[in-house]
Amino acid sequence: VSRIDPRDVVAKKRDGRRLDEDEIRSVVLAHARGDVPDHLASAFLMAAFIRGLDSPETVALTRAMVESGITLPLEGISRPKVDKHSTGGVADGVTLVFAPLAASLGLAVAKLSGRGLGHTGGTLDKLESIPGFRTDLTAERMERQVEEVGCAVAAQTDDLVPADGALYALRDATATVPSVPLIAASVMSKKLAVGTDLILLDVKAGSGAFMKTVEDASDLAGACAELALGWGRRALVAVTDMSQPLGEAVGNALDVTEAVEVLRGERQGRMAELALEFAAAALRDLLDVSHGEARARAERAISSGDALDLFRRMIEAQGGDPAVVEAPEKVLPSAPVVVPIPAPEAGYLAAVEAEEIGQAAVGLGAGRARKGDHIDPATGIVFRAKIGDRLDRGEAIGEVHARSEDDPRVAIDRVLAAVRVSDREVDPPPLVYGWRDAQA
Ligand code: URA
Repeated sequence: VSRIDPRDVVAKKRDGRRLDEDEIRSVVLAHARGDVPDHLASAFLMAAFIRGLDSPETVALTRAMVESGITLPLEGISRPKVDKHSTGGVADGVTLVFAPLAASLGLAVAKLSGRGLGHTGGTLDKLESIPGFRTDLTAERMERQVEEVGCAVAAQTDDLVPADGALYALRDATATVPSVPLIAASVMSKKLAVGTDLILLDVKAGSGAFMKTVEDASDLAGACAELALGWGRRALVAVTDMSQPLGEAVGNALDVTEAVEVLRGERQGRMAELALEFAAAALRDLLDVSHGEARARAERAISSGDALDLFRRMIEAQGGDPAVVEAPEKVLPSAPVVVPIPAPEAGYLAAVEAEEIGQAAVGLGAGRARKGDHIDPATGIVFRAKIGDRLDRGEAIGEVHARSEDDPRVAIDRVLAAVRVSDREVDPPPLVYGWRDAQA
């Protein structure tokens, strides 16, 4: 039994002093067990948010979080194992493409995903829009599926890093999410608890991300890479653009349709490009081939239909209707009301408040404002315009998919208030700002 009083730990951090490992453990582990009340843990989070945590403190926090639950060693999987995680964004369906694509290239993808919270979408919610699709796999079943099929996407269970589940819910409720050490510990504890050969991290920067600037996102990327290094794990961390929705679909069934189109080779663009780059990075790193060769193999896996076939097999293995890869429009739920979004004026699309577009989709029922809220798989927003595009006044830049006749007006107003059009030409932002390599 710890003799450390959690109130003293909070007071120490409040006063800007450094915490040692035992002090951090005494709050985090006791809170996960229910022995430290939420109000004290919230005070700890706010003190950490404002005063910051240095590198040894972040390591101690991450270690306590990993130790709060079980780990998934995945020792029964023979192929090179990769895990991929995004810090969260809008129209970020990369995992839906990356998992089958990387698996079709001979890698094993064991992916534990989360649900959407706030303005960001969640991979589990997206996949569950496929009728029958189950995400509640046991660790054994997940491991077997990864070995047999090559990939599985399942829900993170309550016994894996429970301290993150407990703290994340408080952070969401107490305005303490966008902190570099807190996000780094949250993301990396979940990755370190799963035994993979490579951790691929997509740290988002911009209006739709928790980190609004490339500088803050780079700090977060550095903190994540450092944690991987400290654990002797291999990680590749990219800082990528989230200054506008990445793909076009902001919803659930809409995202699955977009992913199917990418896997069929029918849709190019920034989302497809990022999925290809991540698959190439994983392949280069794990199979020791050149970037050019890895990228060519990834492109071939799409043009040959191999990646699509793997998506079909993954869906089938998880109880979903595999016909979704042939005819998503017949299999997925669709919204009864679809209304175009008109460009507000002529000019060049200069800026997008991506978080607002995400919130507009939440307002249509596509996401949840609170943990446990019901979501509507059919609704959402398709936002087609990209920064730099030339627009004509009134041209459709996307559409709203709604449940009722009254919903689109609010959503359209919100989307239009979130875009800025300029009469001067605008350069598109880069897709990838840079990579960080943690060589263990
Ligand atoms: N995603 C996570 O898993 N944790 C955070 O803190 C933020 C994004």
